[in-house]
Amino acid sequence: MLTYKDAIDRPIGMIESRSTEHGVCLGFVLAKAHWGHGLMPEALEPIVNAAFQEKQVWRVYAFCDFQNAASQRVLQKINMNCEGILRRWMTHPNVSAEPRDCYCFAQVR
Ligand SMILES: CC(C)(COP(=O)(O)OP(=O)(O)OC[C@H]1O[C@@H](n2cnc3c(N)ncnc32)[C@H](O)[C@@H]1OP(=O)(O)O)[C@@H](O)C(=O)NCCC(=O)NCCS
Repeated sequence: MLTYKDAIDRPIGMIESRSTEHGVCLGFVLAKAHWGHGLMPEALEPIVNAAFQEKQVWRVYAFCDFQNAASQRVLQKINMNCEGILRRWMTHPNVSAEPRDCYCFAQVR
């Protein structure tokens, strides 16, 4: 739950937490008006911690566009490590119709 005064009665963002074979894949987005207050790292951290409470979860990870510096920073702030770049990995229609290079960030145990 995002804790911010304007989020009392309406959503300002979304976190997707998708189970994979032995891990959890995260996706996230926040309304622009709320960027830069540390909300997304604050919201993601307990989700990562909760995921690792599940004994079948060995890996929590996320992908972000290679030019999305804010997203990369969010993932660093929650102690995820950059594992490398995946070429032409994902399409971000708001940026381009072509599949884009993405970084993969992860925490493992
Ligand atoms: C990515 C996103 C969730 C960030 O959430 P947030 O709550 O604003 O995150 P933070 O407040 O921690 O700020 C982001 C960090 O990135 C940094 N940052 C932002 N823009 C940056 C830029 N262009 N270059 C370098 N660093 C940048 C900020 O300085 C901050 O780091 P700091 O706390 O060390 O100063 C938000 O920007 C967003 O929803 N973007 C659009 C959707 C998206 O990119 N989703 C992720 C897809 S993987």
